[in-house]
Amino acid sequence: MTTQPSAVSDTRSSERLAGRVALVTGGAQGIGRAIAQRLANAGAIVVVGDLNDPGDASQWIELDVTSSDSVAACVDEIAARYGRLDIVVNNAGIMFEEDIETHRESSWQKMLDVNLTGPFLVTKAAVPYLKASKGAIVNVGSIEGFSCNPGHAAYAASKAGVHGLTGALAVDLGPFGIRANAVAPGWIDTELNASFVDRHPDRDEVVRQLGELHPVGHIGDPSDVGDVVVWLASDEARFVTGQVITVDGGRLSKPPLPGILQA
Ligand SMILES: NC(=O)c1ccc[n+]([C@@H]2O[C@H](COP(=O)([O-])OP(=O)(O)OC[C@H]3O[C@@H](n4cnc5c(N)ncnc54)[C@H](O)[C@@H]3O)[C@@H](O)[C@H]2O)c1
Repeated sequence: MTTQPSAVSDTRSSERLAGRVALVTGGAQGIGRAIAQRLANAGAIVVVGDLNDPGDASQWIELDVTSSDSVAACVDEIAARYGRLDIVVNNAGIMFEEDIETHRESSWQKMLDVNLTGPFLVTKAAVPYLKASKGAIVNVGSIEGFSCNPGHAAYAASKAGVHGLTGALAVDLGPFGIRANAVAPGWIDTELNASFVDRHPDRDEVVRQLGELHPVGHIGDPSDVGDVVVWLASDEARFVTGQVITVDGGRLSKPPLPGILQA
């Protein structure tokens, strides 16, 4: 899917996060991968915690965010390797559609386990280290925590939960010098929503119409989210906590008009 030309280059300082150690969950692909790359470009040592090996030069630790044992093993391994943990990015997530009437309890639970309980477990395990480093947490929510597509009850509930968790973490951990914020991405070009786009035979037309929903004229690139995460994790955001920053090209600011009234 084509996005915008501005998405790729990263010209900022490679020193902003020098000496910091970061964990990015779900960093093997998509948004998490871009976050990991942007954090590394800013000078951080980045560990990708994911079910899957990214298959590149990334430092990968196998992680299932739904398992407290797996989470503890991952965080302890990072501490053993580097002696510190400064930045936690709770990015791992899943998405699927199910109608509310026929929604299986098991799939509802699975969505909440990965998308909401995961960030809780990872944060809980990381807090002792984050206290020592006066670190930062960045959760990946979604614009679907504010408004949602059909069949997304579990996904929307999980992401609204992530936004709520973010505020709670800011309140509880602020006294220890730990900041907690979230990004709420809009439509970003990844595997997560590729199957949705691919339902229609004319992919280019889907992309064109998706672009029209955005004041900036196009959907987002994973690096668009990565750059905001770097800022939130950095000292430049030292007085910012408890916030959910929407990264959606203005889509939520533009309520749709009927097609016949559009210019
Ligand atoms: N793509 C979008 O348009 C969009 C929009 C808003 C929010 N988001 C959110 O951004 C995050 C990343 O989405 P993406 O589009 O890059 O998805 P993706 O499917 O491309 O990548 C998700 C990653 O999470 C990993 N993962 C899944 N379950 C896991 C588990 N139990 N433990 C550890 N890792 C696990 C996967 O292996 C994969 O590497 C998700 O939280 C998603 O909800 C995405």
